[in-house]
Amino acid sequence: MAKFSDIKGFVFDLDGVITDTSVFHSQAWHQVADKVGAPWSKELEDGLKGISRMDSLEMILKAGNLSDKYTEDQKVALATEKNTNYLKLVDQMTPANILPGIKAFLDEIKDHGYLLSLASASKNAPKVLQKLQLTDYFPKIVDPKILSKGKPDPEIYLKGAALIDLKPEQCIGVEDAAAGVESINAAGETSIGIGDKQTLKDADIHFENTADMTLANIKKQMTE
Ligand code: G6P
Ligand code: MG
Repeated sequence: MAKFSDIKGFVFDLDGVITDTSVFHSQAWHQVADKVGAPWSKELEDGLKGISRMDSLEMILKAGNLSDKYTEDQKVALATEKNTNYLKLVDQMTPANILPGIKAFLDEIKDHGYLLSLASASKNAPKVLQKLQLTDYFPKIVDPKILSKGKPDPEIYLKGAALIDLKPEQCIGVEDAAAGVESINAAGETSIGIGDKQTLKDADIHFENTADMTLANIKKQMTE
């Protein structure tokens, strides 16, 4: 793991880290699973975190042995329906949907001169940031449309570091998903996993809750 003093920037995931939208994604995918008759489970729900829209649909269809039952057009229609339902939930969001301690942490790292970028697989990230009134914190956002591979591939976190002109070793990546932690680790960045310790067992640094994430607490889990 890098030394704390080497760290110059943070690359953030969005859903489930900055805000509680992972619940909205799950809710909207659960509707799709019910519609196609695929079984919904905690494992599937966790496995979908960090995964792109079309890959998520494929995972749901696979869980129901339905992968070959839908044409490409029908799959696009299902994913579009999910997104429409998801956006209805996003529309009701306000800054109250920012997870505990996140605003304070963003201010703390900005005040200390760390650079920030966003590495979310979501094409809706700019809209969500706008609803949270956090757009100004993230002038650098990886565009998921240009990615050739999604998480757990390192590409998105490598791009996140490059956007702020840092080497991966100078960055900490922050994630709530196992696929995201894998992506950060493969990129050669220091990983913070927030949430269930067993699910995020590969994270370099672990916090149970977003409120625990402070520079002092990160420092405690790294060498100086
Ligand atoms: C994030 C979320 C996933 C979501 C993906 C794509 O990674 O964790 O649950 O499927 O973004 O989001 P989008 O808003 O583009 O459908
Ligand atoms: Mg996430």
